[in-house]
Amino acid sequence: MSSTPSETGPLRLGIAGLGTVGIGVVKIIQREVETLAARGGRPLVITAVSARDPKKNRDADLSGYAWETDPVQLAKRDDVDVFIEVMGGHEGAAKDATEAALALGKHVVTANKALLAHHGQALAELAEKTGAALRFEAAVAGGIPVIKALTEGLAGNRIKRVMGVMNGTCNYILTRMQSAGLPYETVFEEARQLGYLEADPNLDVGGIDAGHKLSLLAAIAFGTRVSFDKVELEGIGNVSIDDINLADDMGYHIKLLGVAQMTGRGLEQRMTPCLVPAESPLGQLQGGTNMVVLEGDAVGQIVMRGAGAGEGPTASAVLGDVIDIARGYRRPVFGIPATQLADPVAARSATPAPYYLRMRLQDKPGALAKVATCLGEAGISIDQMRQINQPDADDGDAIVLIVTHKAAPADVSHALSQFNATGVLVENPVAIRIEEV
Ligand SMILES: NC(=O)c1ccc[n+]([C@@H]2O[C@H](COP(=O)([O-])OP(=O)(O)OC[C@H]3O[C@@H](n4cnc5c(N)ncnc54)[C@H](OP(=O)(O)O)[C@@H]3O)[C@@H](O)[C@H]2O)c1
Repeated sequence: MSSTPSETGPLRLGIAGLGTVGIGVVKIIQREVETLAARGGRPLVITAVSARDPKKNRDADLSGYAWETDPVQLAKRDDVDVFIEVMGGHEGAAKDATEAALALGKHVVTANKALLAHHGQALAELAEKTGAALRFEAAVAGGIPVIKALTEGLAGNRIKRVMGVMNGTCNYILTRMQSAGLPYETVFEEARQLGYLEADPNLDVGGIDAGHKLSLLAAIAFGTRVSFDKVELEGIGNVSIDDINLADDMGYHIKLLGVAQMTGRGLEQRMTPCLVPAESPLGQLQGGTNMVVLEGDAVGQIVMRGAGAGEGPTASAVLGDVIDIARGYRRPVFGIPATQLADPVAARSATPAPYYLRMRLQDKPGALAKVATCLGEAGISIDQMRQINQPDADDGDAIVLIVTHKAAPADVSHALSQFNATGVLVENPVAIRIEEV
């Protein structure tokens, strides 16, 4: 019997992964039977499921579905038209089962950004070869339908820039540090206790998870192969409460911000802590919420804000993809056929931007002048400067804050290296990019 998905009759779903996302999908399908059938033009029917532990209590009635211990076997079942991969991990079961489904021409819906960031090109080529859909709305910014917006609603635009706060845990940590005046280590521990962190916290706080998402958006926005290995990554572990407070005094908030843009020097993809104006939509973003900002030549700027994680929002995104498949709607995985995606040249350095500099200077005559000279010699001009004499500072040390005019990152690095030779710095200076949003 052929296992190629049928285009009529009930759409038969196999769900691999019965955790937060998988159970969320099961619940909506069980609760909204008629609405989903009306919207998809055919009933959605779960035929089989898979997870590691068949005995676990899962907060949903799964008794009507066949159980497969091996997700690859689930993907290959004749009574599965759409394989829903919500297990996670970029190797092993998730990759093997996704490949097995696509090789048989079965549609795949996944929430797995790691899988696509690492293997998106090969999987897209396989899907397009066998005529299967490969959809991943839930993989980027949870419930925010940003993949659909970029591939469809904005298809008439030349995309100029894509930006986003796309890791709710990092945004929670940064906004909580600010509101409670607590240091990073304390809030990190709070986040761990609340269960907000991945088993490997570096995926969150190291910017890797958000970097995966940015690489997928960049591929669609600029028609390039997914190139996660070319994302400049810096996590939030070095963001200090001092910088959060001092930046706030100067009208900025610190965010782990992803930015992708095509420049004359190549594709720029950055996921790094940045200052953004406190009054901007990105600056105002609180807690675990996500925000994606899309800029097109015709449409201008679009801001999308919503839940980036959680059972309901992520299942919402999975169901959006499933309904599209039920309707028979198909599109290339990354907006244009995978074989036509360009191999991106990575920009060797980021576009010039203003920088926030913080340094602690000794109380010596001419100390500030020496620092200003280093900046001048590196071709960097000063926009604002503020000196803060802290009551607890030793021997009258002073904190000096500088906001520069636009400067090339290499020039900023050069100036920082020259600061050391002045002999007036008490500790290493801090430099954080200010993103114009
Ligand atoms: N949670 C979110 O808010 C969210 C948001 C966006 C995207 N995502 C993505 O969605 C995916 C799933 O996330 P989640 O939060 O739902 O994870 P989760 O709660 O940890 O659930 C993972 C599920 O996959 C099953 N599983 C893992 N390895 C398996 C294997 N080798 N064979 C069979 N089943 C296996 C687990 O089985 P057991 O239950 O038996 O252990 C569990 O049911 C990930 O790619 C994640 O990045 C999650």
